[in-house]
Amino acid sequence: MSIISTKYLLQRARQQGWAVPAFNIHNAETIQAVLEVCAERQSPAILAGTPGTYKHIACEEMLALCRAYSKSYNMPTILHLDHHEQFDDIVHKVNAGVRSAMIDASHFPFEQNVDLVRQVVNFCHRADCSVEAELGQLGGQEDDKNVDAQNAFLTDPQQAVEFVHRTGIDSLAVAIGTAHGMYTQPPKIDFDRLSVIGKLVDIPLVLHGGSGVPNDDVTHAIRLGVAKVNVGTELKIAFANAVKAYFAENPNANDPRFYMRTGMDAMKQVVHEKITLCGSEGRL
Ligand code: 13P
Repeated sequence: MSIISTKYLLQRARQQGWAVPAFNIHNAETIQAVLEVCAERQSPAILAGTPGTYKHIACEEMLALCRAYSKSYNMPTILHLDHHEQFDDIVHKVNAGVRSAMIDASHFPFEQNVDLVRQVVNFCHRADCSVEAELGQLGGQEDDKNVDAQNAFLTDPQQAVEFVHRTGIDSLAVAIGTAHGMYTQPPKIDFDRLSVIGKLVDIPLVLHGGSGVPNDDVTHAIRLGVAKVNVGTELKIAFANAVKAYFAENPNANDPRFYMRTGMDAMKQVVHEKITLCGSEGRL
């Protein structure tokens, strides 16, 4: 059992009309929470770490945890680099053993985005590492980066065709109206745009900002070509609220095995719901 890339998994998901949920993880407990559910439901899942996550636990340590859990749960594990922006950082982590990377150069003008992504693809493909890149830009807060509404812009379908062709990426993150973080009002997803992109681009599409997106919108997006659904904030909220409630009820508690377990159980509920929503159960 090993650390694998997302290339064939996401292709299979797109062809068959389901999606792989990608969960943002931060430590051993959040990895365990995701994998306990995945093992029970026999679902593939992507464990996604932002650059900030790998500052909290070094990539080598995260890989060691994933390899150990992969063996214990008898299933392959995908450790993904979420929203990585630096070529050298990706090289270092792929050399350490990561096999799934997102290069986010979406803040650059188109030509610069293409150049950096192509450089990452050339390196990663030699190491059997799949590459996701973003065209257009999502708003909201992700890691320590905040993109306000004025700077967010949607993916242009024709540019998407050129982008995929010139970069050789394995999956494309699209900006279609979702945002990172929780929504104050329901997101307005541009399904017409997604439908055109889905017809023109045959690689798997990725939906970022999955927290708080109504279930019908997620399933609609999957029907139009989305094969990876990213969820972060909803997991953190569930975990934190459960731990807060635990301490409110047990003000003298101090044993992490108990208060962490309440957080993990609440997070596991969300993981269950997203696996059902994405239709990934039994697809290991
Ligand atoms: P949310 O935190 O809004 O679920 O977004 C997660 C994400 O898109 C990670 O890349």
